[in-house]
Amino acid sequence: MNTLAIVSRILSAGVTPEGPEPQMSVLPKETCRVSEPRPVAVIVLAAGEGTRMKSRIPKVLHPLCGRSMLGHVLAAAAELDPQHLVVVAGHGKDQVGAEAERLAPGVSVVVQDTLGGTGHAVRMVIEALGVMPGIVVVTYADMPLLRAQTLGALVREHAEAGHAVTVLTARVSDPAGYGRIIRDAGGGLAEIVEEADATPEQRAIDEINSGCYAFDGALLADAVKRVATSNAQRQEYLTDVVAIARGDGHPVGAVLAADPDEIQGVNDRVQLAQVQRVCNGRLLEAWMRAGVTITDPAATWIDVDVTLGQDAEILPGTHLEGRTEIGPGARIGPGCLLRDTTVGPDATVLYAVCERAEIGAGASVGPYARLRPGARIGPGAHIGTFVELKNATVGAGTKVPHLTYVGDADIGEHSNIGAATVFVNYDGAAKHHTTVGDHVRIGSDTMLVAPVQVGDGAFTAAGSVITDDVPPGALGVARSRQYNSAGWVERRHPGSPSAGAAARARQAQRPARKGRAQKDRAQKDPAQNDDEGSQGT
Ligand code: UD1
Ligand code: CA
Repeated sequence: MNTLAIVSRILSAGVTPEGPEPQMSVLPKETCRVSEPRPVAVIVLAAGEGTRMKSRIPKVLHPLCGRSMLGHVLAAAAELDPQHLVVVAGHGKDQVGAEAERLAPGVSVVVQDTLGGTGHAVRMVIEALGVMPGIVVVTYADMPLLRAQTLGALVREHAEAGHAVTVLTARVSDPAGYGRIIRDAGGGLAEIVEEADATPEQRAIDEINSGCYAFDGALLADAVKRVATSNAQRQEYLTDVVAIARGDGHPVGAVLAADPDEIQGVNDRVQLAQVQRVCNGRLLEAWMRAGVTITDPAATWIDVDVTLGQDAEILPGTHLEGRTEIGPGARIGPGCLLRDTTVGPDATVLYAVCERAEIGAGASVGPYARLRPGARIGPGAHIGTFVELKNATVGAGTKVPHLTYVGDADIGEHSNIGAATVFVNYDGAAKHHTTVGDHVRIGSDTMLVAPVQVGDGAFTAAGSVITDDVPPGALGVARSRQYNSAGWVERRHPGSPSAGAAARARQAQRPARKGRAQKDRAQKDPAQNDDEGSQGT
């Protein structure tokens, strides 16, 4: 037990962090078993260092499509509904163990302190958890494309054939680096030879070991103890269990993976990008088959937990992340990044960045809008160009069309917020709240200095700095009165083009003095001037 620390923490239900920041994908609670019989254990090897990733993050925690590599593998493993889900952690064991427990509460994490090889890793599991009679599946945490169905087929074949070991193999165009599958004269599986130990003839074989197996648990427990280290890498090879079992007279076999993509391992970031594209492509294909239009799958990225409604349309350059939900008939993109955002039916979002936002049915957002956490856009509302919202509710049918910041506010229904309005929510120390009622007209360039309320049906005059509440139906005017210094340009800039234009206008305007007098009178009482609450629309 000295090199072995059993972490094996069986966690209670409360392990999923409940912080304000949603975490990367967690496996669904309910999983349906993909095959009979039920394996006693699935062991996921994740102790390797991943040097070629050149990363501070352990290799198996690198994400693709919103879930760590480890998460993808645990998700597939969980679908087999094993009695024990086991992760072998070594490098970065604390982080890997914590992520395993977050994803799959109840997982057994076994620590492998020295990397003695894949056989050593499995031996550590058996020393920690005991002999597991039944079918034991072993796979790698850096093989994230392996499907649950493929694991299920492996288990089924293993059980039906009554094998001691069944190896998942693949035919690949470039077998370099893999263990080669050696077959006997009758075509049966004879042994697996690692590349470092292979003869030139064996290296020419294009059928390779995926690294995923089904074992008889009792035979495995016995065989891993007998694995030698007399090989090129001085390691305990799990692959040697094949020859050991066969030598003992037990039947062994192989299942060829139909899709070699599935056994693609990730050792560096080039391979990470390749598997990410495959994973993304699978998700997009599934959504297209479910009735979603994706105009350019090569330029569209979605996470595993995203859901898309029927007839939704996703345009190029769109990234849908986290638990984003897109309603039926909604049109997203081009050029959108949505994270943990809900979009209602038939809404449109164009060139926008939205995080933890809610967009109601038929609402439109963008182009060039930013919805920060807590932005809730009501049905049919419109958020326009260069508008930012944070922790703000916008009622049904309300428009915030241009150049506006709305922070910490509730805006009622069918109101209009004029261009360049700022909800001034921060006094340098604390955030304050603004309430705007229904059918309100906020004039362009209004500063609403929170805390402040604008009642139902009220207007504000353009350019106002509103520091006091505006009662329902009132016009709030809060700006200095304009003063015109008559003839100033001709005095200050005589002979200039402006002075010339002014002189010509003065000549032309002489007969029209009556109209100007009327306007001067109206400005003395702003409340009688219907133009004051002028809107940007
Ligand atoms: C292994 C197989 C090889 C197969 C290939 C497929 C052996 C001896 N060889 O070779 O036949 O074609 O995978 O990718 O098994 N790991 C541990 N603890 C260890 C060593 C490895 O947990 O002590 C984990 C690694 O994190 C990794 C996996 O096991 O996820 C495979 O280890 P790696 O060293 O990459 O094996 P390969 O040499 O690629
Ligand atoms: Ca490898």
